[in-house]
Amino acid sequence: MPATQRILAIFGTRPEAIKLFPLVHALADSRFVSRVCVSGQHRGMLDQVLAIAGIAPDHDLDLMQPDQALDALTANLLTGIGKVLDEERPDWVVVQGDTATAMCGALAAYYRKIPVAHVEAGLRSGNIHHPWPEEVNRKVIGGFAALHFAPTETAAAALRAENVDPATIHVTGNTVIDALHWVTEKIEREPSLAHGLAELESRFAGKRIIGVTSHRRENFGEGMQAIADAIRRLAARDDVAVIFPVHLNPNVRKVMEAELAGLANVALIEPLDYPHFARLIAISSLMLTDSGGVQEEAPALGKPVLVMRETTERPEGVEAGTAKLVGTDADRIVAEAARLLDDEAAYAAMARAHNPFGDGKAAARIVELLASSN
Ligand code: UD1
Ligand code: UDP
Repeated sequence: MPATQRILAIFGTRPEAIKLFPLVHALADSRFVSRVCVSGQHRGMLDQVLAIAGIAPDHDLDLMQPDQALDALTANLLTGIGKVLDEERPDWVVVQGDTATAMCGALAAYYRKIPVAHVEAGLRSGNIHHPWPEEVNRKVIGGFAALHFAPTETAAAALRAENVDPATIHVTGNTVIDALHWVTEKIEREPSLAHGLAELESRFAGKRIIGVTSHRRENFGEGMQAIADAIRRLAARDDVAVIFPVHLNPNVRKVMEAELAGLANVALIEPLDYPHFARLIAISSLMLTDSGGVQEEAPALGKPVLVMRETTERPEGVEAGTAKLVGTDADRIVAEAARLLDDEAAYAAMARAHNPFGDGKAAARIVELLASSN
């Protein structure tokens, strides 16, 4: 009988929480002692996910500061997580993706010779400035992780090209699809969990809804301004309404509030919890986003997604024809969105439920791989 494995999952932001809750659920298994440390890199947006997923962290470093700078955040994460590792002494640390919390959690583990399992390993844009600083964060973790859970074959190939030992790379699918299935089933059982958009749905009845999210650091300044400009121009159409849950980052909020507040066809709203965000995708004709996770979820739900970035580390949606890179030029964003709204054939070509990112069973695969890596 193999010894029980002590696993510590470390995460801190909304997308990490969404993509790790299926694994935390799956680790509730007698083969593991499963513990959770949240950094609190995000606060409200993290807590929304913890609440819906029913996760009560064993450690909460609560270290978010308003408009936090990357260097202070990194320093606080490294020392804070280090102390938790000294107390917990896990056999494995699990991190997800490419945030500051993921990188520092992995690094603090490496400093203690604790093996790291990296969920969503191998995504690469090939450009260290897009996404910034995430491209480098993810590469740092990839440099020493003991297990690399690549969501797709493309991601696995990127790791092999960096001379990562192929025996440590496993294609598992992306746990975001597990999360999406879980939340969809939860809403089916309890529809009231996603009823909060009803008022907007009736206010905008008869219009085509564009769901928007935006938060990327490399888009701050000019990029955010251009995105706001594009949304204002699109919302000037009678047949369109924009629902935009605005990220809590003040660099996003101040631009969007200054440019878009009070427009008749624009609803700037607070970040939605996961069931309501899934509902927003479902009622939208198309998604306009610079988010990583939304690029994966929208194609899975058959919604075209226009990606307001110069590059993507998730080429699978673009290759499948359900996502399109449109950059942050306002004219281009408006033209691409208008094409989808006005050209039925162009819309139909993109609005195919397609899911290159996983089958909803990634967490189960990861659990078995961890169990056999004793
Ligand atoms: C972080 C991640 C990014 C990820 C994004 C997901 C890094 C460097 N960045 O970016 O990879 O795509 O999260 O959303 O790890 N804030 C709140 N409440 C919250 C969350 C944020 O008030 O619940 C505000 C705070 O003022 C905070 C600021 O947003 O200082 C920025 O948060 P931070 O986590 O540093 O960066 P994000 O841009 O959210
Ligand atoms: N999301 C959410 N509520 C919102 C906006 C997004 O629950 O108001 C979810 C979305 O479904 C996706 C994740 O948050 O799973 C994406 O997070 P974000 O865009 O902040 O980060 P990224 O994926 O770009 O790292």
